[in-house]
Amino acid sequence: MAEPIRIVVTGAAGQIAYSLLYMIARGEVFGIDQPLILHLLDIPPMAGVLEGVVMELNDCALPLLREVIPTTDPNMGFKDVSAAFLVGAMPRKEGMERKDLLSANVKIFKVQGQALDKVAKKDVKVLVVGNPANTNAFVCANYAPSIPRENFSAMTRLDQNRATAQIALKLGVSVSNVSNIIIWGNHSSTQYPDADHGKFFIEETQKSVSRAINDESYLRGAFVETVQKRGASVIAARKMSSAMSAAKAACDHMHDWWNGTAPGQFVSMGVFSDGSYNSPKNVIFSFPVEINNKKWKIVEGLTLNDFAKSKLKLTGEELQEERNEALSVLDASASNL
Ligand code: NAI
Repeated sequence: MAEPIRIVVTGAAGQIAYSLLYMIARGEVFGIDQPLILHLLDIPPMAGVLEGVVMELNDCALPLLREVIPTTDPNMGFKDVSAAFLVGAMPRKEGMERKDLLSANVKIFKVQGQALDKVAKKDVKVLVVGNPANTNAFVCANYAPSIPRENFSAMTRLDQNRATAQIALKLGVSVSNVSNIIIWGNHSSTQYPDADHGKFFIEETQKSVSRAINDESYLRGAFVETVQKRGASVIAARKMSSAMSAAKAACDHMHDWWNGTAPGQFVSMGVFSDGSYNSPKNVIFSFPVEINNKKWKIVEGLTLNDFAKSKLKLTGEELQEERNEALSVLDASASNL
């Protein structure tokens, strides 16, 4: 059997991690032949809760799980890790402005970027789940200059899974028969869920999603809105945010990064923009990507209509604003030193 690899989950005492840790430890991301050492990082007030999570992981009696290391020290949490799920973040509290939220998170992701830079493996794959995920990933990468920028990503896979599920429902087919639904831009309400390039299999024939649905007002209206507002709908119904589906999406994201995408299929990931599709450069923008040998590549050459272009512009502008606000927080804290 292979040597164990070290995987860190931050926010390990939280609700997403509660589902995520089990899925990882069962082998759903790195394979059923890959032993694991799990690092569980949270903040000092949660140290007691972490102990409970460790007890439960042990009680699951999972054959792949060689060791569980709970910690509140980032330098121990990130030591020699091959993959990092950055789930922990400062949640939005009542009365908190976006700027306050950004400011709290910028500080967290600066510290974590610095720790990754110092102690993680240089080929570590970093997935940021904690919100605002795109901008947090941007900040984290900037504080880890010794790790390639393409190793940092933000999660829009939950949005992709939500969009794929809506399309499957509309077409009356299984989700496994639907592919290439795209999420563009920010993991926020300005994201653009795009089914125009989607494909599905029916009776062993591949067909175009948009041609089969043939209802532009749905694809530009109810479909987009349902996906954009799905997080809020889950909170309204469950009185808590999406956790099981977020954990599953984090597994899907890292699984495909680790194992690659099937020929002709693409998935959405927030990655550093190179300006493709007129997106702003130097923000973490969600694109359709193909993955081979653990390296993603933005799918080029897709045709965008004017509606799509206007949506990409909007979400790109929001990402630039967030990035600039984050940078101003960092500048302000640097000048206060
Ligand atoms: P939660 O509040 O249940 O857990 C968050 C955990 O993070 C807590 O245990 C907290 O102590 C910990 N934490 C806070 N600061 C930390 C730090 N500096 N280092 C390590 N741990 C830290 O929240 P939940 O439901 O697990 O969600 C986590 C994050 O994921 C939130 O920011 C949420 O908005 C985001 N999210 C992102 C999604 C996406 O699609 N990108 C989907 C759903 C949630």
